[in-house]
Amino acid sequence: DGTGDGVGADSPVVVVANRLPVDQVTGADGEPRWQRSPGGLVTALEPFVAGRGGAWVGWSGSAGEAPEPFESGGMSLIPVALTDDEVDRYYEGMSNASLWPLYHDVVEKPEYHRNWWDTYVQVNKRFAQRAAEVAAENAIVWVHDYQLQLVPALLRQQRPDLTIGFFLHIPFPPYELFTQLPWRSAIVEGLLGADLVGFQRPAAAQNFVQLARRLHDLPARGQVVEYDGRTVAARAFPISIDVAAFDELARSPEVLARAKEIREELGSPSTIILGVDRLDYTKGIGVRLEAFEELLEDGAVEAPDTVLVQVATPSRERVEHYVHMRETIEQQVGHINGVFGSIAGPAVHYFNQSMPREELAALYRAADVMLVTPYRDGMNLVAKEYVAARGDLGGALVLSEFAGAAAELKQAFLVNPHDIAGVKSQLLRALRMEPAEGAKRMRAMRRHLFKNDLDHWASSFFEALRSQASGQPTGRAA
Ligand code: ADP
Ligand code: G6P
Repeated sequence: DGTGDGVGADSPVVVVANRLPVDQVTGADGEPRWQRSPGGLVTALEPFVAGRGGAWVGWSGSAGEAPEPFESGGMSLIPVALTDDEVDRYYEGMSNASLWPLYHDVVEKPEYHRNWWDTYVQVNKRFAQRAAEVAAENAIVWVHDYQLQLVPALLRQQRPDLTIGFFLHIPFPPYELFTQLPWRSAIVEGLLGADLVGFQRPAAAQNFVQLARRLHDLPARGQVVEYDGRTVAARAFPISIDVAAFDELARSPEVLARAKEIREELGSPSTIILGVDRLDYTKGIGVRLEAFEELLEDGAVEAPDTVLVQVATPSRERVEHYVHMRETIEQQVGHINGVFGSIAGPAVHYFNQSMPREELAALYRAADVMLVTPYRDGMNLVAKEYVAARGDLGGALVLSEFAGAAAELKQAFLVNPHDIAGVKSQLLRALRMEPAEGAKRMRAMRRHLFKNDLDHWASSFFEALRSQASGQPTGRAA
């Protein structure tokens, strides 16, 4: 069957994403081992796929031959190989130096190279081929994110029996930005291979429908586009986390004890401000450092009575913009600590590390104020994790208006990350808020999250996908 030991062959549900939920890394002993992959896509999808025993087609995170398919955590993992050149051009180039900055409002300038694109096409074909091999007759295949936008159409050519869904985890830009892309038509056609294209926000779905209309002259009614004798629906499905599981983790005795210990290890400050991100220029880490530094300068807060803890997971470390931003951030941290630190301790505790879920939960629980200040973010699950972790109704969330999560977490202290004065004043409000008001805000946000959790997201997508597919003229009834 070409899948090795029959693992994942004939799967009724297949998820296709650039990354597998586990990442192959080389340990200190030089031996390869698997660890959890970084990022929000894996956080959200892993519990969903594991709960259904589905198959997951994806890259192992390192170049070279792909490992054989294997079972892990109740899932069939089907690795796809990428060569060094492909990692360079498809992953670091086209995906993360062209599409990522373009889709995030050109926070950094996207670069366009024809050989990156050619490799993007080549790798998308490989993913489509692998998915076609493992999907059972009439299976549902769910393709994810900007790295694989050509897969829906490629898959449909090979396997017209399949029901194909696509979900974009990041923002989708308006016509005026998207049309910069030299390969704009090919991308739109790639996505139109799906029955249903899901986005984080309604505006993103509208952008897509508008592109299909204006660029391809396709007839559209509301959120449904007519294409190639079929219809393609575009809708918003705001992604979430397993709220109950995170809540439970954060109230476990171990995590609570660790939260207390963290405060003591930090020198028992009266206030802890926290940032947790992948080290990415879209996350606005510099903005929050600047706001904190100015508040120290103004004397509005004092260190080390108030400290900022910033955890920044290393990410895409060979892409130029990431190399630069890391240098800038680390200089900024060094500068703040040079001026405002003391023998008693630094003002900013910075960690360029990935941390276990339990440790993150303890940090969330210890933090008086959580700072989430992206310039643009599809959703931002860190904000949702923080709220899910605060079953004690303590803490305060400062959240960028430009994160998808801001549409849902309306009781957060919303900020425009381009407006430093505004960030400072909202941070101060959060720091000085009465506990009763904080509890009221937290309760409202938690109520929203418990209703709109991961299961809700996945089941609304599946329901919409099934009804869309069964309405197709070919009569596919998934
Ligand atoms: P993105 O997908 O852009 O990275 P999200 O906020 O949506 O952003 O998701 C990030 C995910 O990665 C969250 O589940 C968060 O807990 C996790 N994460 C972020 N920073 C770290 C870290 N330093 N260590 C471990 N996990 C992290
Ligand atoms: C975001 C993207 C994901 C990606 C993740 C981590 O969540 O939407 O597609 O997997 O970041 O980035 P990486 O490049 O390490 O896979």
